[in-house]
Amino acid sequence: MSTERIQRIGVLTGGGDCPGLNTVIRVVTKAAILEQHLEVVGIEDGYLGLIEDRMRPLTFDAVSNILDRGGTILGTSNKADPSRFCVGHDAGGRPIFADVSDRVLANVRARGLDALVCIGGDGTMSGAARLAARGLRIIGVPKTIDNDLLHTEVTFGFDTALSIATDALMRLRTTASSHQRVMLLETMGRNAGWIALHAGIASGADIILIPEIPFQLEAVCAHCLDRSRRGRAYTLIAVAEGAKPVGGEPVVDRIVHESPDPVRLGGVSVVLCGQIAERTKLETRATILGHIQRGGTPTARDRVLATEFAHHAMILLREGRFNQMVALQQGRLTSVPLAEVADRQRTVPVDDHLIAAGRAVGTSFGDR
Ligand code: F6P
Repeated sequence: MSTERIQRIGVLTGGGDCPGLNTVIRVVTKAAILEQHLEVVGIEDGYLGLIEDRMRPLTFDAVSNILDRGGTILGTSNKADPSRFCVGHDAGGRPIFADVSDRVLANVRARGLDALVCIGGDGTMSGAARLAARGLRIIGVPKTIDNDLLHTEVTFGFDTALSIATDALMRLRTTASSHQRVMLLETMGRNAGWIALHAGIASGADIILIPEIPFQLEAVCAHCLDRSRRGRAYTLIAVAEGAKPVGGEPVVDRIVHESPDPVRLGGVSVVLCGQIAERTKLETRATILGHIQRGGTPTARDRVLATEFAHHAMILLREGRFNQMVALQQGRLTSVPLAEVADRQRTVPVDDHLIAAGRAVGTSFGDR
């Protein structure tokens, strides 16, 4: 790769789609063209496009009117890691993985890309760190509804998912109270409980179950029964998809064998629904919110955050500070080495102030 002045950059979005991705693509492209006089190339479907050499020019017009559009105009993939890419299947149908980083380096060189802006979550940052170690110049921009990237207080996408989950809980409350039911809402978040915790607090959920605080089924049932005995006719439960009982494992929805991170969680609310109904004899229902949390237009807060992150990425690029991920720390924009973010997740600390605030108003976390 050239050590001369940056002239052409590539932009990609990796991992699950997330509200605010297009906002970042827009700001990176416009700022690159207007302020730094660069050419911008959009890489299709995340690392898959880098591996398969699928790219297209991003012009000023191409990124107009996308600020508030959900998803990503570039496409994305949460199955393509260049260092462990599925190149086929064996006779038993098992995926065969190979390191195709050399192919990526050759494509980047052939396309004349002097640097990459990789927008994604922990999988994308891990891939970026490995490519950076092979000599690519990369700047990472953190996205994920899960809010679980290390070294940044928040990622864009989280606020949108939070408002959708909160709205869903408030809607379930009306049915819960009308029918005197126990209603569970299952949120996404993998092994982190940020969405369930914040949405649970924002909606006044009676019970919040997160992976970081394993629950006791007896405690959950006792809280539902206690409420009904005290004349509270219903119970609203926010449960993170990664929530698990003490000594137990999270409920797995599926294994995506081709993915570097193959386990997809889901279904704990349905399991709990049956168990609570059986033990308490209260009428109980479960709703899995699923990908609705990731779809649609980003909130104003996420658009602002995505814009700030993207602009900071372009400052790093101009200053030649590569192999960093943009981060927000103590409310200030900064950056951290990609290698420090790779292969790690930020879960909810059990002494988080919101957990204490919830306990203070009688919210159960299912552990006592
Ligand atoms: O990381 C974002 C996320 O939506 C998680 O909350 C969820 O567990 C996972 O992706 C779902 O992945 P998929 O879109 O492959 O089902």
